[in-house]
Amino acid sequence: MTICYTIESFNKALSSLPTNCKVGFVPTMGALHQGHISLVQKAKEFTNQVVVSIFVNPNQFNNSNDLANYPRTIQEDCKKLETEKVSIVFIPSVEEIYPKKDNRTFDLAGLDSTGEGPSRPGHFNGVVQVVSRLFNIVKPSFAFFGEKDFQQLAIIKHITKKLNYPVEIVACPTKREKDGVAMSSRNMLLTPQQRAATPIIYQSLAKAAEMVSAQNLFSPRELSIWVTSQINKEPLLTTEYVQIVDSNSLQPIESWEQHNNIQLCTAVKAGSVRLIDNIKLK
Ligand code: PAJ
Repeated sequence: MTICYTIESFNKALSSLPTNCKVGFVPTMGALHQGHISLVQKAKEFTNQVVVSIFVNPNQFNNSNDLANYPRTIQEDCKKLETEKVSIVFIPSVEEIYPKKDNRTFDLAGLDSTGEGPSRPGHFNGVVQVVSRLFNIVKPSFAFFGEKDFQQLAIIKHITKKLNYPVEIVACPTKREKDGVAMSSRNMLLTPQQRAATPIIYQSLAKAAEMVSAQNLFSPRELSIWVTSQINKEPLLTTEYVQIVDSNSLQPIESWEQHNNIQLCTAVKAGSVRLIDNIKLK
């Protein structure tokens, strides 16, 4: 496994991979857990040449505290990636990725108007800035993104198509802890009490999905109110939003009938830690 800190050394490592091989790419911000590793393992099903990037992208943080507190565990990360037989780990500096300020604004077709968008202005534009930079450097045939960040995945799919990037975006299922909590680098910022409170999030989502498949009489609006109240029963948790959206447009839906794919997405705060999760309802 080659570890590269500059674009120059990355290019060298890339050119020493077998000719005409297809590269599978897993972009990350590090603090790797089994959720990230499941993306690497999925990539291995597509190709033997897997590249992982570790870059805490300042342009997608709209809160400087959040950026400063973001966990960084590079040595452990590299050990885990070595075990997975990754070909190249790319760990660039901020100057390497943004030699000058990135002023590009992308048309996200309204996909950022719901969910995480309103409470994190500029976040998704920052994600697209870095992913487009990384795609240009890594030139992958396949790139792997987790459904854990459902809105991010939808936006990446949209922009890849719109900008005609020759890369196939592969969606990977959310990895969960035994108690259902979605794995996240942010979980390590929770106090033990907060962590003990978090299983109610997925339990409520799973119950909502069950209710929809049993064709209960709740409207989407009523169901989102029900999920909100379930989660808020836990004194250490406060929902920021619970939205039931069309999986393609990410716009909230009014009825179950007119949509083929429906997702329930939520953001929940435990103290200052913000957790997101989602589940497919249809
Ligand atoms: P990060 O939060 O490190 O996540 C990297 C990838 O791992 C994303 O595609 C994310 O959806 C996926 N992931 C995280 N937790 C997961 C879980 N429990 N199960 C399955 N997949 C999971 O997302 C980012 O970084 C950044 O925004 C990035 C795309 C790297 C751009 O900076």
